[in-house]
Amino acid sequence: MRHPTRPAFRAPPTPTGRALVLLAHPTLHRSRGNAALITAARSVEGVTVHDLYDCYPDFDVDTEREQQLLAAHPLIVLQFPFYWYSAPALMKQWLDLVLEFGWAYGPGGLALEGKTLLCALTTGGGEGAYKPDGSNRFTIDELLRPFEQTAHLCKMRWAEPFVVYGVHREEASILAEAKRQYAERLRSLLAGLETP
Ligand SMILES: Cc1cc2nc3c(=O)[nH]c(=O)nc-3n(C[C@H](O)[C@H](O)[C@H](O)COP(=O)(O)O)c2cc1C
Repeated sequence: MRHPTRPAFRAPPTPTGRALVLLAHPTLHRSRGNAALITAARSVEGVTVHDLYDCYPDFDVDTEREQQLLAAHPLIVLQFPFYWYSAPALMKQWLDLVLEFGWAYGPGGLALEGKTLLCALTTGGGEGAYKPDGSNRFTIDELLRPFEQTAHLCKMRWAEPFVVYGVHREEASILAEAKRQYAERLRSLLAGLETP
């Protein structure tokens, strides 16, 4: 059920910049990490923020509109809390519906060619848990391989993921630093894009 203070269903944004941040968080009103990071993203000039759970609470993704949004932005950011070693369900639904054969990959599927894909995520587990001898056994880079391969199949450039570990334990000052670093990362990726 939607939180009463959350705005009602919202239409997808109109493109305002060169970076599209697709946020997937089912309970943003209870978020620390992603709420902080999305504030940082909104502060960066040239960023369009798209809150997927706000737009598609019923998972009824408008494929055509999403493809138009993707086509209009050279930098695509998938921002989410790490859930069961992946993204929340709506992000998967979005990928399943929007990255169509013949559009994103396969014969004639060149719509995303040359764009950059950044995954920006928060985890509950600390950095030490994401090591071969840690409780999660694999690094985040290893666990994000399906996203990396998706980018590869769609001829996109894969940017090094932006990860904020152990969000529940982090003090406010560390989250403030994560916000600063995220904004800096977005600015730097935007500056490195080929023109136009
Ligand atoms: C359904 C669910 C699955 C989760 N799975 C993981 C996981 O696989 N690895 C992990 O480190 N944290 C996991 N967590 C913790 C979240 O990653 C953590 O709560 C989130 O990153 C905090 O960000 P937020 O403040 O924006 O909600 C999970 C949390 C939920 C609710």
